Amino acid sequence: MKKITRILQWGLMIVLGGQLSLAQQTNVPHSLQERMQWFQDAKLGVFIHWGIYAVKGVDESWSFYNKKISYKDYMSQLNGFTASKYNPEEWAALIKESGAGYAVLTTKHHDGVALWPTKENHYSVVKNAPAKRDLLKPFFQALDKYGIKRGAYFSLIDWSHPDYPAITRDSNRYKMENDPARWQRFQKFLHAQIAELNTNYKPDLWWFDGEWEHNAKEWQAEKINASILQANPWAISNDRLQDFGNYETYEQTIPPTKPKKFPYWEACMTSNLNWGYHPDDTNYKTPYQVISIFADVISNGGVYLFDIGPKEDGTISTEQVHLLKELGKWNKKHKEAIFGTLAGIEAGHFYGPTTIAKDSTTLYLFLQPNTSGQVMLKGLDNTIKKIRVVGTNHLLTHQVQSKMTWGNVPGIVYINIPAEVNDQYMTVLALELDKPLKMYKSDGEK
Ligand code: GLC
Repeated sequence: MKKITRILQWGLMIVLGGQLSLAQQTNVPHSLQERMQWFQDAKLGVFIHWGIYAVKGVDESWSFYNKKISYKDYMSQLNGFTASKYNPEEWAALIKESGAGYAVLTTKHHDGVALWPTKENHYSVVKNAPAKRDLLKPFFQALDKYGIKRGAYFSLIDWSHPDYPAITRDSNRYKMENDPARWQRFQKFLHAQIAELNTNYKPDLWWFDGEWEHNAKEWQAEKINASILQANPWAISNDRLQDFGNYETYEQTIPPTKPKKFPYWEACMTSNLNWGYHPDDTNYKTPYQVISIFADVISNGGVYLFDIGPKEDGTISTEQVHLLKELGKWNKKHKEAIFGTLAGIEAGHFYGPTTIAKDSTTLYLFLQPNTSGQVMLKGLDNTIKKIRVVGTNHLLTHQVQSKMTWGNVPGIVYINIPAEVNDQYMTVLALELDKPLKMYKSDGEK
């Protein structure tokens, strides 16, 4: 149901074209492009699902909603949520090492438990768990110290709140139409929590979730959006605030080709099969898989939000630390081809991901693992001055074949790849060009 609602919303967004992003720009002193620039250049973010669900290692919120566990059992995890080894400085250092430019922490999931000391009369790990302290503030402070942008995940749904209609997949407290005043009380509460975060934490990025249970009017999405921009005119948000938001959010999936309608998009993905800590889930992606997804995302102009799920004590599993560190090593070596680059050339010219330097005079080609022999590039209407293997001193040779002297169709470029230049994960080539990149896009000549 959740998925279907989202697909319908996307359909609507596509029909309305650019209108949505224009709507958000009203009353905003900075253009959308200016506000999105850091996000677009960052390319990588780290998503952190941390909450009481880590105590038993069950699905975040969904475990009680889907009745895998009773609500009482689920909420009893509050007693075991200690954050006893939580070291936000270490988290921020690891995120920095991964190469990510922003982090998004679950300030409140659908279970309604806040990680900050909410003044509202509702659950928080400060009031109701042995953690007993604000977990958000020190994290945001550590991020500031490392120059990483601060993202707040916030669930609009709150299945624990006495004035919220839904409790589990087959039970409701009440029907909104029968008790509008009760829903208004919930709205007041919701807006008050958002105001607390706006005032005391000022996120750079709002990552909304759980929008599918109500429409924009019911959430008062316009008002929420306005309050965010009033508190921080530079703030950006994902598209899960119904009709509002600045970028498209893909979840556990990547578009096979460049999305055409919206200039900004992000793909969030788990590192195993779960968002939160799940000790029984050992189905981790390999570093190569993470890197190949990342390369594919940036090639298509997107941003990758890689998820980790810390344990209840605040430590991060060795597998997730390993993935972040390997990704970081690869990012460091290949940084010129990743950060601050533009989306690559259209599919079909080269069999693999590509990116383009901002001045368009360097084209980066990302090779599949263990490539040796030759790779082919079609339609390059430039002269190649030099081919470097990024992060090494290797220079490569190439040949141009079938260039007809009488025609406009560029020749086919073959680049020689000696096996010894291969990176452990993905090798990247920098093609330095004579002038800004020009790709031949017609059908050829006969
Ligand atoms: C979904 C899930 C939620 C998870 C989120 C991350 O919306 O409901 O549990 O936090 O995706 O993208």
